[in-house]
Amino acid sequence: MSSALAAETANKHPRHIAIIMDGNGRWAYRRHLPRVAGHRRGAEVVREMVQRCVDLKIPHLTLFAFSTENWRRPPLEVRLLMNLFRLLLRREARKLHENGVRLRIIGERSNLAADLQTLIAEAEALTAENRRLTLNLAVNYGGRWDITQATKRAVARHLESGESLDTFREEDLAAELCLADSPEPDLLIRTGGEERISNFLIWQLAYTEFYFTDTLWPDFDGNALELALKSFAHRQRRFGRTGDQILDDACASD
Ligand code: FPP
Repeated sequence: MSSALAAETANKHPRHIAIIMDGNGRWAYRRHLPRVAGHRRGAEVVREMVQRCVDLKIPHLTLFAFSTENWRRPPLEVRLLMNLFRLLLRREARKLHENGVRLRIIGERSNLAADLQTLIAEAEALTAENRRLTLNLAVNYGGRWDITQATKRAVARHLESGESLDTFREEDLAAELCLADSPEPDLLIRTGGEERISNFLIWQLAYTEFYFTDTLWPDFDGNALELALKSFAHRQRRFGRTGDQILDDACASD
């Protein structure tokens, strides 16, 4: 392959990065610190990654901050994590707004504390018109929950319009998912050495490129992101087509 053609078929930066931020507990353990110290450092890395995405003009970033399964953690750790979200919403919302970032919380919010729900609504309203970067924070989120809530709403809408279920299409359901108005993630990064999805965006990741790294989330930095982006740039995304078809298309547009 000529280098020009290689450049043509290489991926540009992803439009949407999703991240499973794993390894905070181990990072703290290795330093003989309480787990929450890992989460605190993890929250700083979140700030750093938001800035990197803004600088790199990557317009969508979705972070898995708290899963529907994370309620099973010790109550003290759950409380401390919720306090970190409070801090983020109280202290950072204005800065995000000034930086052109739109903040959205995805997940079941009805069983979050009432004050947290208010902070979420305020931060979302404040940043709603921003378009430089959409930051989706998944809190009390699970992919199966997302598909279930979308199915209920999509089927109800469909039946209300008088249609039979025979005409129900994939797109009807997709339109009700949490990230319906964002492009699907191009790249999923999971830190911390595990290689699984853990009930993250299970529908939306159907064609996403996966990148797993042993780096613990609190150690994830600009260089680590660069490595992930380099790996992504070398993937050939076929979406069900053959490699030859992709090359033919690239030659035709050369
Ligand atoms: C996984 O590490 C991390 C979490 C469950 C929480 C993610 C939260 C943060 C990055 C900090 C807060 C973020 C915001 C947006 C305020 P783990 O605890 O499972 O680590 P381990 O696998 O090493 O135990």
